[in-house]
Amino acid sequence: MKLLYACTELAPLLKTGGLADVGAALPLALTAAGCDTRMLLPGFAALFNGVQLDDAPPLMPAGPFAPAVLQQLAQPALIRRGRVAATGQPVYLLDAPALYQRGGGPYQSAAGEDWPDNADRFALLGWAAAWLGLGGDTDWRPDVVQLHDWHAALAPLYLRLMAGDKPRPVSVFTVHNLAYQGLFPADQLPGLGLPWSVFGIDGLEFYGQLSFMKAGLQFADAITTVSPRYAQEILTPEQGCRLDGVLRERASRVSGILNGVDYAVWNPATDPLIGARFEHDRLAGKALARSALQRELGLQERPDALVFGVVSRLSEQKGLHLLPPVLDELVARGGQLVVLGSGDAGIEAALREALAAHGAQGALRTGYDEALAHRIIAGADVLLVPSRFEPCGLTQLYAMRYGTLPLVHGVGGLADTVTDATPDALAAGRATGFVFCDFSADALRGALHRAFALAERPREWDAVRRHAMQQRFDWREAARAYCALFQRLLTAHPES
Ligand code: ADP
Ligand code: GLC
Repeated sequence: MKLLYACTELAPLLKTGGLADVGAALPLALTAAGCDTRMLLPGFAALFNGVQLDDAPPLMPAGPFAPAVLQQLAQPALIRRGRVAATGQPVYLLDAPALYQRGGGPYQSAAGEDWPDNADRFALLGWAAAWLGLGGDTDWRPDVVQLHDWHAALAPLYLRLMAGDKPRPVSVFTVHNLAYQGLFPADQLPGLGLPWSVFGIDGLEFYGQLSFMKAGLQFADAITTVSPRYAQEILTPEQGCRLDGVLRERASRVSGILNGVDYAVWNPATDPLIGARFEHDRLAGKALARSALQRELGLQERPDALVFGVVSRLSEQKGLHLLPPVLDELVARGGQLVVLGSGDAGIEAALREALAAHGAQGALRTGYDEALAHRIIAGADVLLVPSRFEPCGLTQLYAMRYGTLPLVHGVGGLADTVTDATPDALAAGRATGFVFCDFSADALRGALHRAFALAERPREWDAVRRHAMQQRFDWREAARAYCALFQRLLTAHPES
């Protein structure tokens, strides 16, 4: 089975969040599971730097329904073939420097403004995926096209328009986060090469705007999300981001496949980014990692402190506004808090102000810092993930591997992966962390109390920690589930 995997991020070359970690691991796991997998990525400079290009001449995409920008570029857009240097993963890079090579981030300028031509930039990605899907590369024609998040979400629509009555590959739209939808003014529609006939309630119209996300939801042959719980949640008005109605209509095509962890990158026994290595059966290094973290961040070096860590985008999604109201108590009980985050300036200011009152019991580091992320996840005792919603969440999975107990809001992938330390779960040896259910500072406070109480029973804490460290969230399992889905779709769509 040949699979084209279209997305925008690939760790460690280009990463704004978990999408990049998935892009680095899942295609390789799919290949290992028997799919001949090629990625399609926008030609961002950071990706070109990590890709070894083939000698083969580039492809020149052209044809019907192309976004107008394809004709307007001074240099024609090309699709270059190559392999990720570090892994050998085959990739197509959509080379259009005017669209993808600029300062700032992949979606926003350095000032945090969305790029004004995002509709063109990502429509071209979706269109290129469809073009490849229909045999644009005569040497390799995929059976399945998997599109990740709104950036690639127009592909299923382009595929239908471009194929007409002819065979086409099956399309799977994978939602990593329903909250980011790719909404644009409706008058941009013709510029994307799309006919007005698709701008209806059954198409990509969304409260008068055009929605890339909705195109993916309406036109893909299957929709997946990155945890089973989130697949259920998005069918409800609370978590459906105003698309729950659309999703409910297509509910039979929606399923959740839990993300995995790349244990070659996240392994306390081998991690080159942490000072002291450790494992569930030799934990001395864990205490060293904690004191090294306290020293590095200027915290009081107290071995008895319970160190709480946060590694997160600073966005409304992550629920970090629940932290300042509980911080006094956290510190009064002997805790310390370290936060590494980047994003929203208001959230950053609120955390900074709350931590300022606690001197050497708290620290905030801003910006994106992969190595510090590893050191926090290794050195903390508890990782806080109080997200309002969380499609999967990866940091809680990493934390478990490092014996750092996750304390999470029980939603989405957090609920699917963390087993709360209830008396029953403790007695049965199943607990791996702490889960609170109401999205409130009071509920968070309750979970913190339970964490402090367990810390006072070191033997029990240790048992939970060892159990957490032995959990495995295996990409092989996820890959098997995706392959089985692809196979079912191919059987159900004999025309493709
Ligand atoms: P999301 O994709 O919603 O941000 P995930 O938990 O799936 O959430 O993935 C977040 C990824 O980004 C993890 O690999 C985490 O370690 C990393 N990360 C988040 N913030 C930072 C930061 N400030 N510095 C370094 N890594 C970060
Ligand atoms: C999104 C989600 C996160 C998920 C990640 C990878 O960024 O917010 O929960 O883990 O994608 O699938």
